Amino acid sequence: MEVVIAPAEELAVLAADAVEALLRRRADAVLGLATGSSPLAVYDELARRHAADALSFDQARGFMLDEYVGLPADHPERYRNVIATEIAERVDWPADQVRGPDGLAEDLAAACADYERAIAAAGGIDLQILGIGTDGHIAFNEPGSSLASRTRIKTLTRQTRIDNARFFGDDVDLVPTHCLTQGLGTIMDARHLVLLATGRHKAEAVHQLVEGPVSAMWPATVMQLHPHATVLVDEAAASRLQLAAYYRQTYDAKPDWQGL
Ligand code: F6R
Repeated sequence: MEVVIAPAEELAVLAADAVEALLRRRADAVLGLATGSSPLAVYDELARRHAADALSFDQARGFMLDEYVGLPADHPERYRNVIATEIAERVDWPADQVRGPDGLAEDLAAACADYERAIAAAGGIDLQILGIGTDGHIAFNEPGSSLASRTRIKTLTRQTRIDNARFFGDDVDLVPTHCLTQGLGTIMDARHLVLLATGRHKAEAVHQLVEGPVSAMWPATVMQLHPHATVLVDEAAASRLQLAAYYRQTYDAKPDWQGL
């Protein structure tokens, strides 16, 4: 696991560099897309590069991490709509090449199984962008999630609903109680994991993710078992890391050619 500690603007540039390098190498690469606040600066940077440097998504495929269950199709916080607004419609990404789990399906279990099949049929995810919840979730794998889980329905914790109330006019009761989410096993199948976290409220979750024991109580700790995981954090999110000096020293000494 590589830990990079840098100002938030630099983190977004680093993540965008990794996405751009992948797309320039393989135009039809498969990207895993997170929602929430953490990836927004990355999407801004990718949209800027699309406009300025003709970075193209026209052959790329995208798979979202998760989706709320039951939000109306036109709800602005439905993750499908968020991804369309924040990235897909700002670049040349054909709508039918970006998919998410169907939180409005009549048969939610079948929708989850379909989603797993679609990811496999695309050849798996090359680069998965991730954020982390204050309770250590990635995607919506809340504490107690099986480390081997696949896409399925989950109940959101009260803490996650409180954290996300800011997207629902600060009314926690408007935040859905259920979601469909890629499982931890699904995420671990991606070839490169790039997690972004900023702010002191993420510091404990980041400490557990990088330095805690691997445990379903802090689901993101499963990333310690991944062969290519990159953790991009600002000073505040890094403030509880015990080996911060070592991570800085390692990154400073890293050869330029290595990339993330
Ligand atoms: C969203 C997702 C979640 C968020 C996490 C952090 O698709 O998968 O795991 O990444 O809740 O959210 P923010 O970035 O809003 O702090």
